[in-house]
Formats: sequence, structure tokens, C-alpha cells
Amino acid sequence: MIETTGELAVLRGRVAAWRREGLRVGFVPTMGNLHAGHHALLRLARCHADRIVASVFVNPTQFGPNEDFARYPRTPEADAAGLEAAGCDLLWLPSVETMYPFGVEATVQVRVPGVTSVLEGAHRPGHFDGVATVVARLFNQVLPDVAVFGRKDYQQLAVIRYLVRDLAFPVEIIAAPTLREPDGLAMSSRNQYLSAEERPLAAQLQRALQAMRAAIAAGTPRIQVEAEAAAALRGHGFDVDYVVVRRPDLNEPANGDGGARVALVAARLGRTRLIDNLEFDLG
Ligand code: PAJ
Repeated sequence: MIETTGELAVLRGRVAAWRREGLRVGFVPTMGNLHAGHHALLRLARCHADRIVASVFVNPTQFGPNEDFARYPRTPEADAAGLEAAGCDLLWLPSVETMYPFGVEATVQVRVPGVTSVLEGAHRPGHFDGVATVVARLFNQVLPDVAVFGRKDYQQLAVIRYLVRDLAFPVEIIAAPTLREPDGLAMSSRNQYLSAEERPLAAQLQRALQAMRAAIAAGTPRIQVEAEAAAALRGHGFDVDYVVVRRPDLNEPANGDGGARVALVAARLGRTRLIDNLEFDLG
């Protein structure tokens, strides 16, 4: 059985002992209901560290009032078994009281400006404040040398990089590739909300992003590419929040300039909100 603790003193003691032995500590924060995508983060962390801590904490402060905090899937036994198999050494499982001992409202908040005002940040007000605050707390609890985040949450990764840079966290951030189902759907805990009819349609998200990449590479104007992708997704029954092509810093590219791009989408199928992205280079 994997060692699990919800007590900060135990976590700190274990990590301090590793550090005294000269071992490098890796960290993978999660909200649980772990799938193969999360397990891949653990395996990547193992390539960069000698001991791995994973956290499972469904963070209430990053969910909006009408979002799925209450029904977010919680599968603690399966998570512990999967973490052990993926090479995790210690599972940090704090309660809400341990994470926010003085109450959510009274806790210092970390807000990353700029990048959080667009796309996910615009559609989910306060979401990235919750993410940045809990990740800052988690970093200070675990004190890792290196932490792994998935490219699936492209904007979250950008937020974490600014957080680390601006607050001078001595943590190296590693980005992990997105793991997908055979039909291209990015693995996500939220995929299980999809009905049998919705599930095959969900693969259209990645298809739409690939079509955008091809159209941009062929010289089609970006605004047209974005409009056509939105129309195609609506045709498949999606309620589209955004589907856009951006520079890696999420700013709008100027017409005619080359370089790296990322196509990003957020859309709802029924009650399920899904996000995905595709990185490419125009050379
Ligand atoms: P969660 O959604 O559980 O995701 C935990 C980590 O797994 C994130 O870094 C996410 O990008 C990564 N991940 C999710 N699906 C993936 C996939 N298909 N392939 C590769 N990586 C994937 O993201 C969060 O939790 C929270 O916001 C958290 C950072 C833990 C803060 O509460």
C-alpha cells in the first residue's frame, strides 16, 4: 500500500528526510479520479526526481458557483492503487480544513495578471485565482525540486510558469504531453459525464483543431479559420465557448508572422464542458 497522509507534519518530515539523503523530490498535483494521463505525469516525474509526491485535492476555490465541484468524481481507492503502480512514493491527501485552515474567504489569494484575463480566465471568472492559490500552497507544503503539469491544460501551465517566476518558487516546471483516447479525445476526468451519444462526438474537438492547423498552414486568414471551426463544432452539437488560434503566450498573432501557434478550444456537449489544444509551428 502506498504511504498516504493528510497531516502536514508527516509530509514535511518525509520530504525533509529524503532531502537529507540528497534525493531530488518530484511533485504531481492532481484533483484525483486519476486516469492514464495522470499516471504518465508520474512516470515523467520519475525521470526527473528520485522520490515522487502526488497530491489529490479537489480544490473548491477553482470551481465556479455553477460548476461541478459537488459532483466531481472522487475515487480514492483506485487513485491510491494507480499512483502506487505509476511509481509514486507518497500520497498527500489534505482535507479542505488542512488546505484552508483559516477558511477559504480569509486565505491570502494569489492572482496571476494578464494571461488569466482571456479564454478560460474570461469564461471561468476566479478559476485561475483558485488554481494559483492552491498550487502556491501545495508547493510550500511539499517543497518539491520539480513539479509536472500536463499540456492538456495549456493556459493553466502558463499560469503556473508565471506563478513560479514572479514568486520565485525554487521549483522546476516540466510540461507533459497530452494523453488521448484512440479516437483522439484528450483523457479527462470529465469525459465520464458524456452520454453514449455524446462520447463519439467529443472526438470532433481534436479534429477541429487539426483542421485549423491545416487551414492556417495553407494560408487561410485566422478569423475565417476560427469562424469555420466554431460553425463545424456547432454542427456537431457543441455549445462553443471559444475556438481560437493564438501565439504560445496566448496573444493574438499578427497577420503574416510565422512561428509557434496553439489552437485552443472550450466547448460544451450537453452538461459536459471539455477543453483541448493543439500546438504547431508555422516555421
Ligand atoms: P487535474 O485536472 O486532476 O489534472 C492534474 C494534472 O494532470 C494537470 O497538470 C493536468 O494538465 C494533467 N492532465 C489531465 N489530463 C491529462 C491528459 N489527458 N494528458 C496529460 N496530462 C493530463 O489540473 C488540475 O487537476 C488542478 O487544476 C490542479 C493543478 C491539481 C490544482 O488544483
